[in-house]
Amino acid sequence: MKGFIAGIVFTLAAAALAGYVFIVTGAMPANADAPPGSFERWAAHASLHATIDRQAPKGAPPIAPTQANLSAGLKVYAADCAVCHGASDGRPSRIALGLYQHAPQLAKHGVEDDAEGETYWKVYHGIRLTGMPAFSRTLSQDELWQVSLFLKHMNALPAPVGEAWKKLPSEGGWQAPAAGR
Ligand code: HEC
Repeated sequence: MKGFIAGIVFTLAAAALAGYVFIVTGAMPANADAPPGSFERWAAHASLHATIDRQAPKGAPPIAPTQANLSAGLKVYAADCAVCHGASDGRPSRIALGLYQHAPQLAKHGVEDDAEGETYWKVYHGIRLTGMPAFSRTLSQDELWQVSLFLKHMNALPAPVGEAWKKLPSEGGWQAPAAGR
């Protein structure tokens, strides 16, 4: 029994030492210009979904998707989100392309299917270990819900808001050159 416990202690100590060496020798990647590994992707997605299931507000949002609220949501989006999530042409900015977790271009890969409360949670808290910032300290409750409503209805906006959205200047100043032969 004693030998068994000593074996467990030794194995744990060896694993901790290996982890320490992995980190302090620089073997653990610290660069952002590589795709995340499959374990990292799985752990990040699984923990994000479980957290949102537990914490995101459920049910109807506290404000309605009126034209005024959607228009206010577009204003927030233009000021704080478009730099990473793009304009209506869906062309990524250089900032979006350089992020370790690429920022989805929401005009193409939108979140209209997600509940407003889920989007609200992501915008309020941000997403850890990605470039997605937390806006809990910088946007008001109304602004947080307005931008969440804007994303929910992005593909079916009332005409005046849809026209303003189409006019938002593209953030994608860079385009990949056509593939040569
Ligand atoms: C500095 C860049 C950056 C800014 C600014 C930014 N985001 Fe993000 N956002 C990201 C990244 C990167 C992700 C992807 C995170 C991941 O892979 O889980 C993301 C993810 C999201 C998602 C989840 C998308 C999905 O497919 O599930 C939503 C919703 C979102 N952001 C909304 C916003 C809103 C609204 C704003 C402005 C108030 C904003 N973001 C500002 C970088 C940014």
